[in-house]
Amino acid sequence: MNAPGFRDVFSNLLEEFRSGIEVDPFEARVDTRFYTDPQWFEKERAALFSDSPILVGHISMLKNSGDVFTHDHLGKPIMVVRAKDGELRAFLNVCRHRGVRLVNGEEVQNKTSFVCPYHNWTYGLDGQLKHVPLEEESFPGLDKQCHSLKALPLAVCEGLIFVCPNPGGSIDIEAHMGMVKDDFAAFKMSEHVFFRQTVTTLKANWKLLVDAFQDGYHVTRLHRNTVGPSFIDGIARSERSGDHLVSVVARKDFPDALEREPEQWDIRRQSACAMYLFPNVEMIIHPDYISYLAFFPTQVDETIVVHGCFIEEEPKDEKAAAHWERAFDIIENGVFHPEDFFVCEQAQIGMTSGANDHLLLGAHETGVGAFHDLLAQKMGAYQPGSPDSEPGSADHSV
Ligand code: FES
Ligand SMILES: [Fe+2]
Repeated sequence: MNAPGFRDVFSNLLEEFRSGIEVDPFEARVDTRFYTDPQWFEKERAALFSDSPILVGHISMLKNSGDVFTHDHLGKPIMVVRAKDGELRAFLNVCRHRGVRLVNGEEVQNKTSFVCPYHNWTYGLDGQLKHVPLEEESFPGLDKQCHSLKALPLAVCEGLIFVCPNPGGSIDIEAHMGMVKDDFAAFKMSEHVFFRQTVTTLKANWKLLVDAFQDGYHVTRLHRNTVGPSFIDGIARSERSGDHLVSVVARKDFPDALEREPEQWDIRRQSACAMYLFPNVEMIIHPDYISYLAFFPTQVDETIVVHGCFIEEEPKDEKAAAHWERAFDIIENGVFHPEDFFVCEQAQIGMTSGANDHLLLGAHETGVGAFHDLLAQKMGAYQPGSPDSEPGSADHSV
């Protein structure tokens, strides 16, 4: 299996740049219903999100025994906890008595046990049911072992925490991550610390948001007043690596790499490196920190976006914290929201306007085509879901 990492993609892009290889001809059409069809949307959620390893956090978020966070963006109440033995565990955040939620709040909290507010059934950090009030009278013969919290498969790879939302599922993290694990190891992902994250709801189909991070075509245009001038127009490359996509976009310093041996390349400064991590995450490797966007589909035209960042060490003082706060804010409120997210929401409106029955992808949007190909491989080519839909162009494969 061809499974390139960032250095391979950087190297291939440099070779294209050096030899002046012309961009391969490419054109694809995408049925607009791919982004508006509620029946297809439900199929996507079932096929891509219900049984896949989903990135939910980083080990640095749960430093101490009893630290716990909740995660509700998959439509299921999930909690992830560091138990007394130091292991991370994921559970459905649901009492086994009559189903009430156990842990509330959005911030990381520290607990010694989980006490249900309704009738005070109490669970240990390992999920075991420990205490039932009036147990002898109310539930004589109750087998507490059978009423532990429902565990979910969890795996950690280079510090990143993945959970499978299906209690009966499993995670083969080595197979899932493949060679991109080496990239995360090279960037010392497991030694980074979580700094902060925001959660926003956008009125756009989740795939429009992923698309926006697979194309180098817009970078110098949409971002002309912000980050655009740091990049060379039209010099970008995206390659499939297992179920993921590794992308490199040339910064203005990119030609410096032509003069240097590979060990002297500074790929984080000479290019922007980004990775689409199947099914819903975009990891962005900045010169001095790493950020991520996780897209959680809630409706065909609505997506919850989690934007977070990891830094190399805890800020030493307020000045350092203010620096990272500023860096995060510039990208969040100066670039993503007013530029990328804005055009995605506009495109969603445009999609239902009747102006286009298909969208066009050109030679500088092959990364978008590769993302759609990957989805088609996972769940078949798009077929309109509604029986009264006109059979139109369903050709989004390339
Ligand atoms: S629902 Fe949780 S203790 Fe009754
Ligand atoms: Fe962008």
